[in-house]
Amino acid sequence: MTGGGSSIPEVQNLLAALVASKPGGKIAELGTAFGAGARAIADALPPDATFVTVESDPARYTEACAALAETRAEVVNACWEDVLPGRGPFDLVFFDGGTRERPLELPISLLAPGGILIKDDLTPGRPIEGDPVREAFFQDQRLVAVELLTTAATAAIVAVRRP
Ligand SMILES: C[S@@+](CC[C@H](N)C(=O)[O-])C[C@H]1O[C@@H](n2cnc3c(N)ncnc32)[C@H](O)[C@@H]1O
Repeated sequence: MTGGGSSIPEVQNLLAALVASKPGGKIAELGTAFGAGARAIADALPPDATFVTVESDPARYTEACAALAETRAEVVNACWEDVLPGRGPFDLVFFDGGTRERPLELPISLLAPGGILIKDDLTPGRPIEGDPVREAFFQDQRLVAVELLTTAATAAIVAVRRP
Protein backbone atom coordinates (compact mmCIF):
# COMPACT_ATOMS: atom_id res chain seq x y z
CA MET A 1 0.00 0.00 0.00
CA THR A 2 1.25 3.53 -0.78
CA GLY A 3 0.35 6.49 1.36
CA GLY A 4 1.44 9.02 3.91
CA GLY A 5 3.75 11.95 3.54
CA SER A 6 7.13 12.79 5.00
CA SER A 7 7.80 12.84 8.73
CA ILE A 8 7.77 16.24 10.39
CA PRO A 9 11.03 17.95 11.50
CA GLU A 10 10.31 17.28 15.19
CA VAL A 11 10.07 13.54 14.51
CA GLN A 12 13.23 13.69 12.43
CA ASN A 13 15.01 15.31 15.40
CA LEU A 14 13.72 12.54 17.68
CA LEU A 15 14.98 9.91 15.24
CA ALA A 16 18.37 11.59 14.95
CA ALA A 17 18.83 11.76 18.73
CA LEU A 18 17.90 8.11 19.22
CA VAL A 19 20.04 6.91 16.31
CA ALA A 20 23.03 8.84 17.62
CA SER A 21 22.73 6.82 20.84
CA LYS A 22 23.30 3.54 18.97
CA PRO A 23 27.01 3.22 18.14
CA GLY A 24 27.57 0.03 16.19
CA GLY A 25 23.82 -0.28 15.82
CA LYS A 26 21.68 -1.76 13.08
CA ILE A 27 18.95 0.68 12.12
CA ALA A 28 15.89 0.05 9.91
CA GLU A 29 13.10 2.23 8.58
CA LEU A 30 9.85 0.61 7.41
CA GLY A 31 8.50 2.98 4.74
CA THR A 32 10.99 5.44 3.24
CA ALA A 33 8.55 7.61 1.27
CA PHE A 34 10.71 10.40 -0.21
CA GLY A 35 13.65 9.94 2.15
CA ALA A 36 13.06 12.81 4.61
CA GLY A 37 13.16 10.71 7.78
CA ALA A 38 15.88 8.53 6.30
CA ARG A 39 18.02 11.59 5.65
CA ALA A 40 17.77 12.61 9.32
CA ILE A 41 18.69 9.07 10.37
CA ALA A 42 21.56 8.83 7.90
CA ASP A 43 23.00 12.19 8.96
CA ALA A 44 23.02 11.08 12.62
CA LEU A 45 24.31 7.56 11.94
CA PRO A 46 27.36 6.69 14.09
CA PRO A 47 30.39 5.70 11.97
CA ASP A 48 30.12 2.00 12.71
CA ALA A 49 26.32 1.72 12.45
CA THR A 50 24.32 0.46 9.47
CA PHE A 51 20.99 1.68 8.11
CA VAL A 52 18.50 0.08 5.73
CA THR A 53 15.25 1.74 4.65
CA VAL A 54 12.52 -0.02 2.66
CA GLU A 55 9.87 1.53 0.38
CA SER A 56 7.26 -0.45 -1.56
CA ASP A 57 6.28 2.27 -4.03
CA PRO A 58 8.66 2.39 -7.05
CA ALA A 59 8.26 6.12 -7.75
CA ARG A 60 8.85 7.05 -4.11
CA TYR A 61 11.81 4.67 -3.98
CA THR A 62 13.39 6.43 -6.99
CA GLU A 63 12.97 9.84 -5.34
CA ALA A 64 14.36 8.54 -2.07
CA CYS A 65 17.41 7.06 -3.81
CA ALA A 66 18.22 10.48 -5.22
CA ALA A 67 17.68 12.20 -1.85
CA LEU A 68 19.91 9.68 -0.07
CA ALA A 69 22.59 9.26 -2.71
CA GLU A 70 25.30 10.97 -0.67
CA THR A 71 24.55 9.02 2.51
CA ARG A 72 25.29 5.55 3.89
CA ALA A 73 21.61 4.58 3.74
CA GLU A 74 20.79 1.34 1.91
CA VAL A 75 17.50 1.99 0.11
CA VAL A 76 15.45 -1.06 -0.89
CA ASN A 77 12.38 -1.20 -3.14
CA ALA A 78 10.23 -3.92 -1.59
CA CYS A 79 7.66 -4.65 1.09
CA TRP A 80 9.63 -4.59 4.32
CA GLU A 81 7.84 -7.75 5.49
CA ASP A 82 9.51 -9.61 2.62
CA VAL A 83 13.08 -8.41 3.06
CA LEU A 84 13.80 -7.44 6.68
CA PRO A 85 13.09 -10.69 8.57
CA GLY A 86 16.39 -12.52 8.48
CA ARG A 87 18.38 -9.28 8.32
CA GLY A 88 17.84 -8.37 11.95
CA PRO A 89 17.89 -8.09 14.81
CA PHE A 90 17.82 -4.31 14.68
CA ASP A 91 18.75 -1.88 17.44
CA LEU A 92 16.27 0.74 16.24
CA VAL A 93 13.24 0.41 13.94
CA PHE A 94 11.20 3.35 12.68
CA PHE A 95 7.83 1.69 11.98
CA ASP A 96 6.35 4.06 9.41
CA GLY A 97 4.89 1.99 6.56
CA GLY A 98 1.89 -0.27 6.54
CA THR A 99 1.26 0.55 10.17
CA ARG A 100 -2.51 0.49 10.13
CA GLU A 101 -3.01 -2.88 8.54
CA ARG A 102 -0.14 -4.66 10.31
CA PRO A 103 -0.08 -5.89 13.91
CA LEU A 104 3.08 -5.30 15.90
CA GLU A 105 4.20 -8.92 15.94
CA LEU A 106 6.56 -8.69 12.97
CA PRO A 107 8.10 -5.30 13.89
CA ILE A 108 8.76 -6.57 17.42
CA SER A 109 10.37 -9.70 16.00
CA LEU A 110 12.85 -7.46 14.16
CA LEU A 111 14.08 -5.89 17.41
CA ALA A 112 17.18 -6.88 19.35
CA PRO A 113 16.85 -6.98 23.14
CA GLY A 114 16.97 -3.34 24.21
CA GLY A 115 16.07 -2.30 20.68
CA ILE A 116 13.85 0.73 20.11
CA LEU A 117 10.63 0.80 18.08
CA ILE A 118 9.26 4.20 17.03
CA LYS A 119 5.82 5.09 15.72
CA ASP A 120 4.79 8.65 14.87
CA ASP A 121 1.63 10.30 13.53
CA LEU A 122 -0.48 9.89 16.65
CA THR A 123 -3.07 12.38 17.86
CA PRO A 124 -2.23 13.12 21.51
CA GLY A 125 -4.60 12.97 24.44
CA ARG A 126 -6.39 9.77 23.56
CA PRO A 127 -6.75 6.83 25.95
CA ILE A 128 -4.90 3.59 25.38
CA GLU A 129 -8.01 1.43 25.68
CA GLY A 130 -9.94 1.29 22.43
CA ASP A 131 -7.03 2.56 20.32
CA PRO A 132 -5.52 -0.43 18.47
CA VAL A 133 -2.12 1.21 17.96
CA ARG A 134 -1.75 2.32 21.59
CA GLU A 135 -3.06 -1.00 22.89
CA ALA A 136 -0.50 -2.85 20.77
CA PHE A 137 2.39 -0.79 22.16
CA PHE A 138 1.34 -0.35 25.79
CA GLN A 139 -0.24 -3.74 26.51
CA ASP A 140 2.54 -5.89 25.07
CA GLN A 141 4.64 -7.21 27.96
CA ARG A 142 7.72 -7.42 25.72
CA LEU A 143 7.78 -3.63 25.41
CA VAL A 144 8.29 -0.66 27.71
CA ALA A 145 6.61 2.24 25.91
CA VAL A 146 6.21 5.98 26.34
CA GLU A 147 4.12 8.47 24.35
CA LEU A 148 5.79 11.82 23.65
CA LEU A 149 4.43 15.05 22.26
CA THR A 150 6.31 15.92 19.08
CA THR A 151 4.29 19.14 18.64
CA ALA A 152 1.23 20.45 20.48
CA ALA A 153 -0.92 18.48 18.06
CA THR A 154 1.13 15.37 17.30
CA ALA A 155 2.64 12.53 19.28
CA ALA A 156 4.94 9.58 18.86
CA ILE A 157 5.46 6.34 20.76
CA VAL A 158 8.96 5.19 21.66
CA ALA A 159 9.08 1.58 22.88
CA VAL A 160 12.03 -0.50 24.06
CA ARG A 161 12.07 -4.28 23.77
CA ARG A 162 12.82 -5.68 27.20
CA PRO A 163 16.16 -7.51 27.31
C1 LIG B 1 4.33 7.87 6.25
S1 LIG B 1 5.20 7.40 4.78
C2 LIG B 1 6.89 7.28 5.33
C3 LIG B 1 7.53 8.58 5.70
C4 LIG B 1 9.03 8.47 5.97
N1 LIG B 1 9.34 7.40 6.90
C5 LIG B 1 9.59 9.78 6.48
O1 LIG B 1 10.04 9.82 7.65
O2 LIG B 1 9.59 10.76 5.75
C6 LIG B 1 4.79 5.69 4.61
C7 LIG B 1 5.45 5.02 3.42
O3 LIG B 1 5.43 3.61 3.64
C8 LIG B 1 5.28 2.97 2.40
N2 LIG B 1 4.79 1.61 2.67
C9 LIG B 1 3.54 1.22 3.04
N3 LIG B 1 3.51 -0.11 3.28
C10 LIG B 1 4.78 -0.56 3.08
C11 LIG B 1 5.40 -1.85 3.16
N4 LIG B 1 4.70 -2.91 3.55
N5 LIG B 1 6.71 -1.96 2.87
C12 LIG B 1 7.43 -0.87 2.49
N6 LIG B 1 6.90 0.38 2.39
C13 LIG B 1 5.59 0.53 2.69
C14 LIG B 1 4.32 3.87 1.63
O4 LIG B 1 4.44 3.69 0.22
C15 LIG B 1 4.77 5.26 2.09
O5 LIG B 1 5.67 5.85 1.19
